[in-house]
Amino acid sequence: MKKRDLINIEDFSEKEIGEILSVARSLKWKKGRRSQELAGKSVALVFQKPSNRTRVSFEVGIWQLGGNCVYLNPQEIQLGVRETVADVAKTLSRFVDGIVARTNTHEDVEGLARFASVPVINGLSDLQHPCQALADLLTVQEKFKNFKDLTLAYVGDGNNNVCHSLLLGAALVGLNMNVATPGDYAPNKTIVQKAQRLAKATGAKILCSGSPQEAVSGAHVIYADTFVSMGQEAETAARLKTFKDFQVNEQLAKLAYKNYVFMHCLPAHRGQEVTEAIIDGKHSVIFDQAENRLHAQKAVLKFLLGKGKE
Ligand code: CP
Ligand code: NVA
Repeated sequence: MKKRDLINIEDFSEKEIGEILSVARSLKWKKGRRSQELAGKSVALVFQKPSNRTRVSFEVGIWQLGGNCVYLNPQEIQLGVRETVADVAKTLSRFVDGIVARTNTHEDVEGLARFASVPVINGLSDLQHPCQALADLLTVQEKFKNFKDLTLAYVGDGNNNVCHSLLLGAALVGLNMNVATPGDYAPNKTIVQKAQRLAKATGAKILCSGSPQEAVSGAHVIYADTFVSMGQEAETAARLKTFKDFQVNEQLAKLAYKNYVFMHCLPAHRGQEVTEAIIDGKHSVIFDQAENRLHAQKAVLKFLLGKGKE
């Protein structure tokens, strides 16, 4: 059987995402009880950027599934510098049964998947963050039971990994998504077109706007991410200026559905993309969302490396 990867969230079908979310719910319910799903298997974590949630949730998740994890920090592998992406992929494939990679460029994680004979999971690239989107969908489903007639409003930098995977994931499961960004920071056009195509099959509505007010009006979920993604630090001053009207604050949140939830992939910057009152307030579900990384990724590991279903 041909190996599968998770590089882009749309590598999974609507049905497969449904199954993964269902397995994740059941794993969550079992509260981390250890299983033998990955017994005898090792997974390499190749990281070119820092991480809290992705690294820890994968390491703990792999351990809970009975597997072994090898973390390789940005200084060790030096993808494309110390050796080529192809050589890294082919070498690691002789040692381990799966690779989780956090890369600077999407091409590098695609390259790892192309040359590895074992499944590769994208743990964040500049274009997509599919593991985050799966955990986010799990969180929305948990808070609202299903996706039908719900709207998620993403406010801030639309041209980033988190927004892109959310757009495609929302389209795949039938969740409406509004994105509000300054003109130059709209999501990648190809991704929006793909999301619109996928949305046709599920009935999800996708709206890209320049107005946070329009995006948030009546929304059930308000979602924020940093204005300055990893690798963009040199643009910090310019970005903070451009994004100043795209902060999620109490005035904006008043326009949302009254029992809205606030979500953020973290790390967060209080006073920039979101105020303290919102992120630490009663609508915020950020730590449930962070916890769900563990459950969603365990379901992905079972699907790609293990026996699959619960
Ligand atoms: N949300 C997320 O991916 O967090 P880390 O960068 O800490 O892994
Ligand atoms: N867009 C952010 C997400 C961090 C999890 C970044 O790439 O830095």
